[in-house]
Amino acid sequence: MSSKLIAPSLLAADFGNLQRDIEMVNTSDADWFHIDIMDGVFVPNISYGMPVLEAIAKHATKTLDIHLMIVDPDRYIKTFAQLGANVLTVHYEACNHLHRTLQAIKAEGMKAGVALNPHTSISVLEEIITDIDVVLIMSVNPGFGGQSFIENTYNKITKLKQLISDKGANTLIEIDGGVSDKNAKQLVDSGADVLVAGSFVFKSNNQKQTISNIKDLINN
Ligand code: DX5
Ligand code: ZN
Repeated sequence: MSSKLIAPSLLAADFGNLQRDIEMVNTSDADWFHIDIMDGVFVPNISYGMPVLEAIAKHATKTLDIHLMIVDPDRYIKTFAQLGANVLTVHYEACNHLHRTLQAIKAEGMKAGVALNPHTSISVLEEIITDIDVVLIMSVNPGFGGQSFIENTYNKITKLKQLISDKGANTLIEIDGGVSDKNAKQLVDSGADVLVAGSFVFKSNNQKQTISNIKDLINN
């Protein structure tokens, strides 16, 4: 079985000490940097944009997993590729021509991800799952860190896992929102491959240790 990944979300980092927090992730057992881009339209919050991402990319030495919570993401695919994105995830709910968007992301050499809001059914991906590298299941409503985990997520993971195997796809399952040591094990046991964790990592006293603990928990 391939190893399960942990992706700390920089949304919960200390922006006044961003380089320090990036170095912490660089030297930790974390696998990816999860970076949330919000436009204040698709979600009721604005996070950070290109100049901050450029600064992050300068210091980060691991996979850059970019989660776009923006309308009309097609406009910026090239820009994110130029800034060093490795995985670029768009929201299903923000794309009228999802197939075209995924092709455009891959044409820029990135892995293509699709995120689903809590109310969006797994079944909408039936005809496109083999084109998706990563499905990100939102386990909170997108827009803010620190919210509580929605329990129906386990049910969605099971359905997605079944769809992936029915279609013979190679898609990774990523879970985002309210992840902690309380649910991490059950999430991977249900079929998750990548866990995003923001507040749980950055609000803890020993961030590196917290990352190692979750990494051990999900790989044993
Ligand atoms: C929420 C973001 C998440 C957020 C998770 O819209 O997509 O990545 O940073 O934060 P926690 O782990 O605190 O729920
Ligand atoms: Zn996210």
